[in-house]
Amino acid sequence: MAASRNSPKILVTGGAGFIGSHTVVSLVEAGFEPVIVDDFSNSQRSALDGLRAILGRDVICYSVNCNDADAMDDIFKKEELTGVIHFAAYKAVGESVAQPLKYYRNNLDSLMLLLELMPKYKVPNLVFSSSCTVYGQPEKLPVTEETPRLPAQSPYGNTKAISEDIIRDVVQAKVPIKTMALRYFNPVGAHPSAEIGELPLGVPANLIPFITQTAAGIRSSLTVYGDDYNTPDGTCVRDYIHVMDLAEAHVQALRKLNETTTDTFYDVINIGTGKGETVLNIIKTFEQEAGVKLNYTIGPRRAGDVEQVYADVTKANRELNWKASRSLGESLRDAWRWQQKLDQSTR
Ligand code: WQD
Repeated sequence: MAASRNSPKILVTGGAGFIGSHTVVSLVEAGFEPVIVDDFSNSQRSALDGLRAILGRDVICYSVNCNDADAMDDIFKKEELTGVIHFAAYKAVGESVAQPLKYYRNNLDSLMLLLELMPKYKVPNLVFSSSCTVYGQPEKLPVTEETPRLPAQSPYGNTKAISEDIIRDVVQAKVPIKTMALRYFNPVGAHPSAEIGELPLGVPANLIPFITQTAAGIRSSLTVYGDDYNTPDGTCVRDYIHVMDLAEAHVQALRKLNETTTDTFYDVINIGTGKGETVLNIIKTFEQEAGVKLNYTIGPRRAGDVEQVYADVTKANRELNWKASRSLGESLRDAWRWQQKLDQSTR
């Protein structure tokens, strides 16, 4: 059911970003009315054009920094919100090591401002964007939500762990909000229309955009960071989840919170496919799906990389009635189609 103007309004911070924009599509398709807040510091306004092409209409968007208390208060005052999905955060692991205060200030202050505005304007539901990075290198795989969090590998990862604790403590203080923290594994791919997708700024840190840019000739070669791990082919293992599966998990989380009758609620849920893939298998699968030969070399390990991490998704299946439905091949096909569309538009 497509959204209409009187559909329940959901504030989507970072809604012009990679995961945020795909979640906006799923929200509208599920009958919600998204209200985007984005300062475009790590996203592009072209995402709004892509959303218009997919949805056939504009989405409300405020060009605001989530730490701007007056502007955020005005938005809560004006828009009758029923929930918030909080994506907006700085997320470059390497940059967070070099500039920790920038990350603690931005990522934590924006969350705390939301946790003050929500009860003030009686907005009950919050879905928070957390990360599998809070697990570090789990001893047991697949990793469950009961696995103790390890000391974060970076200030970025630490802001996610601290954010979860802030939310838990606020809920335990009986502030009337119901919250779900979704721990993402590795989001990849793009909307099948190729109207929206991942827009890495500068040289991509993440594997899939580096692969597609290498295949497109933008990068001369991909470096595989180490093949001497204790894994099936020596390369690291990750849980790569299609961004549309991840988007749909957010809608399911909102529905679950809507159905929750208590005034307060807090839970954490892994959002992944439940399957681990090695880097070399990603490369092989991409070459098959895209029909291109990828130029890559084996290099040294990357500092901070964990050897293997992939999700136990039993809880997501049970609590959210959700499971990933798109294959790795589909994720890589959609990522490649998006890269080719990007290259056409920049020619
Ligand atoms: C995946 C694998 C690399 C690039 C990051 C964040 C995490 C989360 C998901 C936000 C690793 C290898 C990569 C390259 C390579 N983001 N690789 N050559 O590090 O698992 O997780 O994104 O929450 O917080 O840390 O993702 O895509 O960077 O790396 O060999 O050029 O690909 O070593 O094994 P990562 P990634």
